[in-house]
Amino acid sequence: MTTSSITVKPKPVDVKQMKVAASDHLHHLAFDNSLLANIISTGKNGRIIKANMAACKLLGYSKKELLTKARKDIFRVSESNHIEMLKKRTAEGHAKADVKMIKRNGRQVPCEVTSVIFVGDHGIETSITTIVDVCQTALKKKDKEIRRLDAEIRLKTSQFADAVSEARDQERSELGKELHDNINQLLSVSKLFLEMGRNEGPNKEMYLNRSSEYTMNAIEEIRKLTRGMISNVIKDVGLCEAIDTMIRDTMEIHPVKIFFTHDNLIERRLNDKFRLTLFRIIQEQLNNILKHAWASVVNIGLSQNKKSTILYISDNGIGFDTAKKTNGIGIRNIKTRARGYKGNTTFTTEPGKGCVLTISFPFFASSIESRQAVLL
Ligand SMILES: Nc1ncnc2c1ncn2[C@@H]1O[C@H](COP(=O)(O)OP(=O)(O)OP(=O)(O)O)[C@@H](O)[C@H]1O
Ligand SMILES: [Mg+2]
Repeated sequence: MTTSSITVKPKPVDVKQMKVAASDHLHHLAFDNSLLANIISTGKNGRIIKANMAACKLLGYSKKELLTKARKDIFRVSESNHIEMLKKRTAEGHAKADVKMIKRNGRQVPCEVTSVIFVGDHGIETSITTIVDVCQTALKKKDKEIRRLDAEIRLKTSQFADAVSEARDQERSELGKELHDNINQLLSVSKLFLEMGRNEGPNKEMYLNRSSEYTMNAIEEIRKLTRGMISNVIKDVGLCEAIDTMIRDTMEIHPVKIFFTHDNLIERRLNDKFRLTLFRIIQEQLNNILKHAWASVVNIGLSQNKKSTILYISDNGIGFDTAKKTNGIGIRNIKTRARGYKGNTTFTTEPGKGCVLTISFPFFASSIESRQAVLL
């Protein structure tokens, strides 16, 4: 018994051919799936031999229909731009032009075409033409622009709303500070004069007059506030004079000695709003002393050097623990007002040791040359 074996030899693989086939496949895919309209036509009679979906969509044909058409059906072949493009393409192998394409329904659409000649199958001269619908591109651009503008408007609207709300908050806090640090003080003084006027005595009439003066003053300040104006008494009478008046009136109704020194202070070098801020801070701290400190002596000092303006207010009262939380807003207002002019506030105090308030303002923030619009 004999056994025979059959050996099957595998066919040799033509790697080069496989590479060509793969490359061809990729080109076809790129051509078919391109978002740009592409057509391939023969060079000689312009017959369309290949078209992708984007070209069919742009021209309004089915693929089958488009492949029965020729260059003359989709281009205005007599158009000078088109003729020029063909000439250039023949000379240079490629050309670009703005031409009108003819759609299936006869409508003409302005397009930008780029055409390249190459040698196709069987050595036949062929061209590949890419078509861009200019109107669609412009529309897309416009659409993009509209969306950008829309987003910008929305952003600006929200920024505006934020700014309005911030301004409203600022105004409210400004109003609150004025009510607390100014009108509150005027009414307190008025009340004290009234109480003193209630007692029979030689100054009864004078005290009642002063009370009425302070009440009228408070009414006037409220009237101004409701009209959105923050009154600036300092502008009219000057800071030192306003402080002197406040001290004189306070000493009339409180058993306390108040001294005011203003070494080297050149008032006119300070801007108006800053001077009013100093006055409000002094008003509040003096009020705190009268309300809480049981002090017999108070010293108020204002001084200036090349670098800064310094305010200090000391009292020999009961002092307090600065770490203790309170519901009051006076000290907070003092600090906020000072911060508005980059002022550094310190309270040196402890129970039984009196209190010294010192605020140092850098000169650049408070001088007449600095921004008058600094708030707080
Ligand atoms: N010079 C001072 N001597 C003693 N205690 C003081 C002095 N200044 C402030 N205080 C204490 O600090 C606390 C906080 O003061 P702040 O001005 O913030 O609030 P207030 O005076 O209690 O209330 P508001 O100012 O809101 O009317 C006061 O309650 C008081 O206990
Ligand atoms: Mg207070």
